[in-house]
Amino acid sequence: MPHSITIIAPRRLRGTIAIPGDKSISHRAVILNAVAEGNARITHFLTGADCLATIACMQALGVRIEREADSVRVYGAGLRRTRGGGGLQEPDDVLDCGNSGTTLRLLAGLLAGQDGLFAVLTGDRSLRGRPQQRIVAPLRALGATIDGRQGGDRAPLVVRGASLRGGAYELPIASAQVKSALLLAALAGTGPLTLSGRTDGRDHTERMLAAMGIDITIERGTITLYPPAHPVIPYPLSLRVPGDPSSAAFWWVAAAIHPDAELTTTGVCLNPTRTGALDVLRAMGAQVSITNERQEGSEPVGDVTVRSSALRGVAIGGALIPRLIDELPVLAVAAACAAGDTLIRDAQELRAKETDRIAMVAHGLEALGVAVEPTPDGMGITGGRGLRGTTLASHGDHRLAMAWAIAGLAATGETRIEGAEAVEVSYPEFWETLSSVSSEL
Ligand code: S3P
Repeated sequence: MPHSITIIAPRRLRGTIAIPGDKSISHRAVILNAVAEGNARITHFLTGADCLATIACMQALGVRIEREADSVRVYGAGLRRTRGGGGLQEPDDVLDCGNSGTTLRLLAGLLAGQDGLFAVLTGDRSLRGRPQQRIVAPLRALGATIDGRQGGDRAPLVVRGASLRGGAYELPIASAQVKSALLLAALAGTGPLTLSGRTDGRDHTERMLAAMGIDITIERGTITLYPPAHPVIPYPLSLRVPGDPSSAAFWWVAAAIHPDAELTTTGVCLNPTRTGALDVLRAMGAQVSITNERQEGSEPVGDVTVRSSALRGVAIGGALIPRLIDELPVLAVAAACAAGDTLIRDAQELRAKETDRIAMVAHGLEALGVAVEPTPDGMGITGGRGLRGTTLASHGDHRLAMAWAIAGLAATGETRIEGAEAVEVSYPEFWETLSSVSSEL
């Protein structure tokens, strides 16, 4: 049910927050283990709606998956070996990916390579409006039979699995979803797949595939995957999913912009392809400290503490962008509270997310009384003049709902967030955590 939440800036923000499991890693842990041989246990799995959609889709493909709270057991079915034999089963209905671009794109890639399997992938209105040519064109080049509305650029996508050939593809955009879709398609292919160009998106798929015994090499940004001789992922991978830095970033910004704050986020994934927001916050003058750094499975993890800080504007662009793409809405809130100008460039991908996040963030900041100038690939923000509480809509976008809540912590008066339930997608306990760290004393 749609509902709204009203935020009044608390006097203090204090607390230690155990960050829920990483969304990208949760999806991959289920998908990859589903096509491995053997069983795996995934703990600290993200129970947000996006990752639950991935579980439901894999179950519809015949994979046995049991979940109890954030603990998931996957009974690997293996890859489909021959037309009609073993591995994933043809689903008897359309696969509903909900709001989740990762589910739709990774599964489109995986299923395109499953010989003889027919599937239709769709999602909610937001997902059906997002571009898919970015996966459809390269999958077709590998021999896939895949189509959709608008010549294949919009879901529903129709996939008729086939034995794909390998080849080479130069990624034109730094999208981990595209990169992962192609790697999954290549798993059951007849030859190696080489990816070059913008391979700099998050690398969880590569790390996990390597840990599961797949022959994958990465040399100076060029990735080569050699399909296993027997088309199956050799080893299942049991893991504890590290905390999601994209969720932790809300608390980092909250602490940095609030005048009396200290928040510690624990167990956060510190994979360098994901830590751009920390780099930017530090460059803005935020007081950040990282402790307890350790390796958990294939990923580096640590605890991050941020304290009240005097922020200044910065330039955000270039190679940083894929390392913080999902954090830009909340970083824009930080920029609105920072002295001077912030310029976000090279972030045109923001227009293809759950909403057009350039338009939506600019619109919301303006409503909060901030001077903001949207551009085709980002925005200019003049900060430091205060935020004025107002009513803001999530437009069904989880990251907007949370970014506006964080803005409300530093705004005068009341900030009302409509469509507060959108947080379910990636951070179901967000509102509860927010009230637990806010104090009126
Ligand atoms: C994701 C990759 C990113 C990110 C999304 C999750 C992933 O999208 O925005 O939230 O899990 O691979 P793109 O790869 O399309 O940039």
